[in-house]
Amino acid sequence: MAKNDLEEIEIQLLLEGIYRHYGFDFRDYALASLRRRVWNSVRAEGLSTISALQDRILHDRAALERFLLGVSVNVTAMYRDPSFYLTFRRRVVPILRTYPFIRIWHVGCSTGEEVYSMAILLQEENLYSRCRIYATDMNEEVLHQAQQGIFPLNRMREYTSNYLRAGGLRSFSEYYTAAYESAIFSASLRDHVVFSQHNLTMDGPFNEFHVILCRNVLIYFNRALQERAHSLFYDSLVMFGLLGLGQQETIAFNTHEHHYEELVRGERLYRRIA
Ligand SMILES: C[S@@+](CC[C@H](N)C(=O)[O-])C[C@H]1O[C@@H](n2cnc3c(N)ncnc32)[C@H](O)[C@@H]1O
Repeated sequence: MAKNDLEEIEIQLLLEGIYRHYGFDFRDYALASLRRRVWNSVRAEGLSTISALQDRILHDRAALERFLLGVSVNVTAMYRDPSFYLTFRRRVVPILRTYPFIRIWHVGCSTGEEVYSMAILLQEENLYSRCRIYATDMNEEVLHQAQQGIFPLNRMREYTSNYLRAGGLRSFSEYYTAAYESAIFSASLRDHVVFSQHNLTMDGPFNEFHVILCRNVLIYFNRALQERAHSLFYDSLVMFGLLGLGQQETIAFNTHEHHYEELVRGERLYRRIA
């Protein structure tokens, strides 16, 4: 048997075991990037095979927690892709003004940077008091960090630049207090945010939203899981609701493609029209 075949069998057995024992389902994640991160976990645990990793994870919950952190990519930034937020401000905010109450779902929000970015934008547009933001991720550890609203001070220069390019109206430093190596964001930005665990592989719809942002999450899924996620978004969006994806993600080639129109070419912002 070729080495690659054996590796694939070991990965499948590992994912099957995790699913059956703990309920976390990585079986439909894109294999190429998953393989890399599985091997990172093998090395981080001081092991030499994927089967040994399976043995450890199945018998040690702490090893599972480490695996969950290692296997999911949590990289994020405030006003990531500033032009996306600029477009949101110019094209989506006027639509949102027509609603008396606005529900927004940030799917796969990681440590919360995009949630705070959105709260600031909505405050500046005098819409925040009408909004409820649901910020979800499968990973409890990142959600806990998101709830704190404390980010590394050394990233504030980059975030200030992103904020200005995203159409920010004030001085970005008004929104946080610097303490040692940290930037502590204003608690008022969390006034209308609910942080909660939600897993796209197995959880269903839980509300009806005017905006769903799921950015830089679907790239880690295979086609079948992307389909599942898009069905969930479709079922969770009001008619004419907005869907925002990451720059490398698209609604094209998906069975729900014809239910949306692109709001602005190239910005991965779609409006449900059917
Ligand atoms: C690269 S981060 C993206 C963060 C943010 N949306 C952004 O664009 O900067 C991907 C996030 O998706 C989350 N994620 C991965 N699989 C998920 C799933 N099945 N259900 C919910 N969240 C998931 C990860 O835990 C991680 O926090």
